[in-house]
Amino acid sequence: MAVYKVASCVCVFLAFLSACDAFGTGAPATACMTMHPGHKINATTDVVPQTSASPYSIVVEGSRYTPGSTFSVQIVGPVFRGFLLQARRPGMTTPIGTFSNAPTNTKTTMCTTADSSMTHDNPSVKQNITLTWNAPSAGIGTVQFVATVAEMKVTYWMNVMSAEVAEGPASGASFAKPTFYLIMVLCLLQAAFLLK
Ligand SMILES: *[C@@H]1O[C@H](CO)[C@@H](O)[C@H](O)[C@H]1NC(C)=O
Ligand SMILES: *[C@@H]1O[C@H](CO)[C@@H](O)[C@H](O)[C@H]1NC(C)=O
Repeated sequence: MAVYKVASCVCVFLAFLSACDAFGTGAPATACMTMHPGHKINATTDVVPQTSASPYSIVVEGSRYTPGSTFSVQIVGPVFRGFLLQARRPGMTTPIGTFSNAPTNTKTTMCTTADSSMTHDNPSVKQNITLTWNAPSAGIGTVQFVATVAEMKVTYWMNVMSAEVAEGPASGASFAKPTFYLIMVLCLLQAAFLLK
């Protein structure tokens, strides 16, 4: 009797672990496009996302990013356990750029390209974490940060979005070009004088 009870407990625990697996150590690759965590209550029933307004918001460093530079993104709200966050062009599903400097209990993950998404590394609680996005150096236009945030395995919100962030001028580009032309003209004038 006791042996049977222990065995059934172990079975339930193992089933729970396997259902939890995707949750425990980060979003699975299959979640890359849909950002749907695929959590299950039991073998047959999926956990559905919350339909209420998200208590989480994605706060961005500014309204513009500079190509080739880092840009800070924060998940603000109550404590949470799991998440998947990407930069995307508004309305598109391909992740843009990469992430680095993963905060404690988080990691970068591969979605089409290495380090293009951020996810949790374990189910420890997290709050107001700041993520570092590396904008691509080639012009890519306006982006938006999109996340799924799981307060708990059975309670999560999808399509949590930041404000749109426009591509800004590359650092110094707005005055670098006129300065360059001015110096070139001065050099040519000087050369003309020297040759006279
Ligand atoms: C799975 O969970 C759902 C929702 O709680 C329940 O209706 C269903 O009976 C459960 N199925 C099994 C096989 O336990
Ligand atoms: C996280 O941010 C919220 C909203 O700004 C704030 O109320 C809360 O105190 C912050 N918590 C921590 C641990 O920084």
